[in-house]
Amino acid sequence: MGKPSHVTWGGRFAAGPAELMLQFSESVSFDCRLAPFDVAGSKAHAAMLAHVGLITAKERDAIHGGLDAILAEIEAGKFTWDTRLEDVHMNIEQALTKRVPAAAKLHTARSRNDQVATDMRLFFKHACAVLQEAVKGAERALLAQAEANREILIPGYTHLQRAQPVFLAHHLLAWLEMLERDRARFGAVAAQANWCPLGAGAMAGTTLPIDREFTARALGFVDARGRPQVTQNSMDTVADRDLFLEFAAACALLGVHFSRIAEDLILWSSAEFKFVELPDAFCTGSSLMPQKKNPDSCELLRGKAARLQGNLHTLLTLVKGLPLTYNRDLQEDKPPVFDSFDQARICAEVLAGTVAGLQVRADRCAEAVRDPALLATDLADYLVRRGVPFRDAHHAVGAVVRRAEERQVALNELTDADVRGIHAAFAADWVEVFDLRRALAKREGTGMPGPRQVARQLARWRKVLA
Ligand code: ARG
Repeated sequence: MGKPSHVTWGGRFAAGPAELMLQFSESVSFDCRLAPFDVAGSKAHAAMLAHVGLITAKERDAIHGGLDAILAEIEAGKFTWDTRLEDVHMNIEQALTKRVPAAAKLHTARSRNDQVATDMRLFFKHACAVLQEAVKGAERALLAQAEANREILIPGYTHLQRAQPVFLAHHLLAWLEMLERDRARFGAVAAQANWCPLGAGAMAGTTLPIDREFTARALGFVDARGRPQVTQNSMDTVADRDLFLEFAAACALLGVHFSRIAEDLILWSSAEFKFVELPDAFCTGSSLMPQKKNPDSCELLRGKAARLQGNLHTLLTLVKGLPLTYNRDLQEDKPPVFDSFDQARICAEVLAGTVAGLQVRADRCAEAVRDPALLATDLADYLVRRGVPFRDAHHAVGAVVRRAEERQVALNELTDADVRGIHAAFAADWVEVFDLRRALAKREGTGMPGPRQVARQLARWRKVLA
């Protein structure tokens, strides 16, 4: 037991915390990264205190100057963090108090509860913007590959069985759709973050005449028309961790998308497919098998998705069953969020790098897509155009497939007599169905893989990602 080191709350204590307790309860080792947001929040709070006359303009300026100097030291790596001072808030406040006497007034009408809520809302706005850019980088890499390989056809798959032919670009643009939804989700999380908690105090506000709207405006918690947005219930403000969950959920879903993309790339890079060659820079070798080139970046993208989901789960479990309002459990809300942010960001960058270095193997794609069975559905559509009900057409083409298997020939190698024997609606032009380019050109409805449709989508994405 030492003597109370915590001037911020030590007044009612006869003895300070045990060393073990200090070690157990500190958060500065991870929440120190909130320093820029904490300083911004304190500067806005001090400006508000001066605005309402709770401190003088001189005191405000001294506090501002001191906080700027401290942040500069932190950013230069010259600030000494002290775990005995628990968290980022108390480290900065104590450092300020040593330099600026007026700092003793900074915590007027404020609690660490509304302070940390503010820091985190500022963090989420920042993190969402960073992730939106990082994901955009991956999207741009995908778009560049789609454009560079726009003539390439591959089989599309269902059940991992060859289904129907598509342009490779159509497949890559499907990934873009997924990632663009993620970007929109981060935008929605940032919008939810845009409400200022300061003034909620510990949980019941303050008796002092503060101006919450002033602080909100100073911190940029404003709507599209510049009107301040402040949270509407002081208890909810300090208890609420929805944003943490929403952010972690957005990261988890982004991770799921990265993982599905990675899985396709892993399959495509295997000898069995070999549609693509992955860049050496994002692969590793085997310590035993000299021939191996392993798709490690993609496998790790798959693996990181588990971690991102785990962080979401940690947060859900943390908050479930907590009584209102603030409970110290909530200090554990930050490591999963920071980890999700860091991992989601590097995942986006690694995907961008991996995709940018992909070499598409045109020969292997052409070989795979040559399989005429991919156009069996088109053959059924051919019969439909000739008046056959689709169910009958489906059945007839099924029989054609079976006949080809019996003869051990490709579908389009059957004779006219073979197919006419199965259904009388087959005419002499039935085999034209197996012209791949012609088959694709028939699929020009919105969202379909026809060449003009794909070109339109590429143009749209160029604009979206400009
Ligand atoms: N480090 C604390 C946290 O992250 C700050 C809030 C502390 N509030 C309190 N009443 N002890 O949760």
